Amino acid sequence: MGLTLTEKIIKDHLVVGKMEKGTEIGIHIDQTLTQDSTGTMAYMQLEAMEVPRVKTKRSLAYIDHNMLQEGPENMDDHLFIQSMAKKHGIYFSRPGNGICHQVEIERFGVPGQTLLGSDSHTPTGGGIGMLAIGAGGLDVAVAMAGGEYYITMPEIVKVELTGKLRKGVASKDIILEVLRQCTVKGGVNKVFEYTGPGVATLTVPERATITNMGAELGATTSVFPSDDMTRAFLKAQEREDDFTPLAADDDAEYDQVVKVDLSTLEPLVACPHSPDAVKKVSELEGMPINQVCIGSCTNSSYLDLMKVAAIMKGKTVAENVEMVVAPGSRQVLTMLAENGALADILSTGARVLECGCGPCIGMGQAPCTDGVSLRTFNRNFKGRSGTVSGQIYLLSPETAAISAITGVLTSPLGKVDLPDIDMPHHFKVNDNAIVPPASEEEAKEIEIIRGPNIKPFPLSEALKDELQGIALIHVEDNITTDHIMPSNAKLLPFRSNIPHLANYCLTPCDPEFPERAKANPGGFIIAGSNYGQGSSREHAALAPVYLGVQGVVAKSFARIHKNNLINNGILPLIFKNEADYDDIDVGDSLSISDAIHAIGTGNVTMTNETKGHSYELGIEISERQREMLVAGGLINKIKANK
Ligand code: F3S
Repeated sequence: MGLTLTEKIIKDHLVVGKMEKGTEIGIHIDQTLTQDSTGTMAYMQLEAMEVPRVKTKRSLAYIDHNMLQEGPENMDDHLFIQSMAKKHGIYFSRPGNGICHQVEIERFGVPGQTLLGSDSHTPTGGGIGMLAIGAGGLDVAVAMAGGEYYITMPEIVKVELTGKLRKGVASKDIILEVLRQCTVKGGVNKVFEYTGPGVATLTVPERATITNMGAELGATTSVFPSDDMTRAFLKAQEREDDFTPLAADDDAEYDQVVKVDLSTLEPLVACPHSPDAVKKVSELEGMPINQVCIGSCTNSSYLDLMKVAAIMKGKTVAENVEMVVAPGSRQVLTMLAENGALADILSTGARVLECGCGPCIGMGQAPCTDGVSLRTFNRNFKGRSGTVSGQIYLLSPETAAISAITGVLTSPLGKVDLPDIDMPHHFKVNDNAIVPPASEEEAKEIEIIRGPNIKPFPLSEALKDELQGIALIHVEDNITTDHIMPSNAKLLPFRSNIPHLANYCLTPCDPEFPERAKANPGGFIIAGSNYGQGSSREHAALAPVYLGVQGVVAKSFARIHKNNLINNGILPLIFKNEADYDDIDVGDSLSISDAIHAIGTGNVTMTNETKGHSYELGIEISERQREMLVAGGLINKIKANK
């Protein structure tokens, strides 16, 4: 039997385990990336492991998330990351050079390689044929140190694309259609592999839009073959030598098949407040809007913004709309500036922001109160835009651009004479905003610059046999890492300061939680299903560690967050009987006996001393993860083994 593309890449990188579905495997990582909001912590963890130089083929440290400069915290963080990068063998992408995933695709992505990034949209790299996975900062630090990365051997979903997109329908609509069919929970422990004749009609940036938003399926990652389109893109980026052809075998077998006919697809929109709440634009056509934001790691490529410029050229943004455009990289912005498209965008009355994440996380443009904001981004969770009452709709750049002109939600299908924009034969290449690392000899002399905002990260204690604590909070289904550790513009500067951030932990759900947790160490978070969905933010595990949380008891967990909890010594427990979730009230006294033995068996009994009965809980962990939990987290385990 032949292999899928995913299996081929895994086979080439397999270090631990066998390629048997559902079992834990360890894979070697070729490249890593960090961004600034997760990077400081990852580099402190690398430091704690006492690794002098990274052992990957290439590691990148990007500055793209918090571009607001209100005080010294940001630049202090940048200097810390830059000095760590220089000393430890890491390339440093300076502020303004672009969003990590956009720059990675343009300048560093290599088909067939593995990429681990401390950002949940790292799967963007699947657009160029990488097996690109998002993880917590600690996992990325371990990969930089030469350690393998562990995943559950995934099921492989075949996404068969047939036909060709009509004008006005975009690759964003393809991933919205996959989200509509599969939902935000449909991708857990799965890789979405794109095949079929429709693949050859999509450019690498279009493919990257799809793999980027595959993160919203909860998938391990998504991947496209590496073909003539990939070669053409790499050649245009002056990197043809990085090309390798890659595809699944003809007789490869898949666990699930999803079909999308590109010829009949229509413009789609994900409605508030979930990326899978997908409707046809035509169903909502005419809806009044307040704001349009174009950019983010999903849709800020040269091709995206050229389409926007061509649609809007000579027109004016409607009076009732505020519009911003954030180019994904300096390469994109430079090319738009040189060919006149930037002037076309500016002359519409739109604002142009710098090359970074920006409004995606509420910086530089948040919606007005109750405002309807059309965004080309990937997430529309409540409050992520910076405005809790904001109504965020996710859609393609084409739909966003034409709607900005009309002032109401408008389908681009058949409405305008849409231009043909071809991929350029040559991108503007200038890597002078990438600072290379020092040589091993020079590195010895480099001092790490550590501003006052860089605080040590908290460590859990080794697991005790008898656990006792109260139910600290009771939260519903689909709690995101944005709920657990809000990441708004005011808090981002404190990403290296867990003691400060912890005061905001889970406060969108219950403002009293941090104080209650501090006053009752050893307590438990009680949660519904898909707890910890969303970003890879490790702070969502580190803040609970700082507050003394012992465990989370949930109906189910999102993959990256569960790993982050285990890495940091917090027990991820699962209700065997979901009805027990409703039985627990905040303040109930909970206990677990013989915990060290129990977690090894996978069966844990928790007693509710207040109510006078017990719950049967599960814990789905490997032996490696059990050892981590017993030690009080990965860093403690590494230290103990030294
Ligand atoms: Fe940045 Fe938003 Fe992507 S925060 S990395 S643009 S999801």
